[in-house]
Amino acid sequence: MTSSPIRTAVFPVAGLGTRFLPATKASPKEMLVVVDKPLIQYAVEEAHASGIENFIFVTSQGKTAIEDHFDVNHALEQVLEQRGKTSELAILRESQLAPGRSAFVRQQVPLGLGHAVWCARHLIGNQPFALILADDLVLADKPCLAQMMEAYQEVGGNVVAVMDVAAEHVNRYGILDIAQDNGPYVKAKGVVEKPSPGEAPSRTAIVGRYILQPEIFKILDQQQKGKGGEIQLTDSFPKLIAQAPFHGMRFIGQRFDCGLKEGWLEANLAFAYARPHLREHLLKSIEKYCK
Ligand code: G1P
Repeated sequence: MTSSPIRTAVFPVAGLGTRFLPATKASPKEMLVVVDKPLIQYAVEEAHASGIENFIFVTSQGKTAIEDHFDVNHALEQVLEQRGKTSELAILRESQLAPGRSAFVRQQVPLGLGHAVWCARHLIGNQPFALILADDLVLADKPCLAQMMEAYQEVGGNVVAVMDVAAEHVNRYGILDIAQDNGPYVKAKGVVEKPSPGEAPSRTAIVGRYILQPEIFKILDQQQKGKGGEIQLTDSFPKLIAQAPFHGMRFIGQRFDCGLKEGWLEANLAFAYARPHLREHLLKSIEKYCK
């Protein structure tokens, strides 16, 4: 199956982040740092390494730090240049997005993930696109989205990253109703948002990586409210499935739910451990403080 390449990614960053108060009182939750980089930069780097060229952020009030983070900081660059700090300068420049390749659109009212994605419809146009939720941080040799791009080349249509979760956790995720399971790929015949364990059609859960066809916008136009009174992205999937294949892809890697303190803590450990120059210090610190 040949599929048109995915060059645009959407990053919904309008959420309040109340679980991380007071850290998120005056700073966006997507700017929470894991080791030395904000969550949103991990998401953008994953997208970039997967072939994405255009970056659309769906923001809200109080999120300007994200826009500034990906901009050029002339004053800081000048100081670093004057002081000959070349490696710091390189790090700084890695966080810049290429001119004209980023766009910011506001979700004016917090009406849910489906509504946030719909707010980007005119910037995306009639092309398939990737969607990354920065809260879901994935540690992987090959970026999770790059794995999905390969899957997309094979199966086309819509592709979501999935993992199998414990029965008592199905109520945290969009859960696939499976038509066909061949290991790495799962063909879906339906999806249910955050079902109770008794209602869940499987234990195969969507994590925050999606490749979606633009037909989703016609469905989201209807602005139908679902679970929690929000316009859920997941609720548009059954109609999408009726039009094109919809596959879950079991990615290879470790996913951390950085929307929760526990997941964010684990991510810090795993990402620090993955850095050779921090590993020894990390292990010594655990020995020292975690008895
Ligand atoms: C969202 C989606 C859900 C998905 C999850 C992945 O939920 O609505 O379908 O499984 O992200 O993290 P949220 O975590 O924003 O409540």
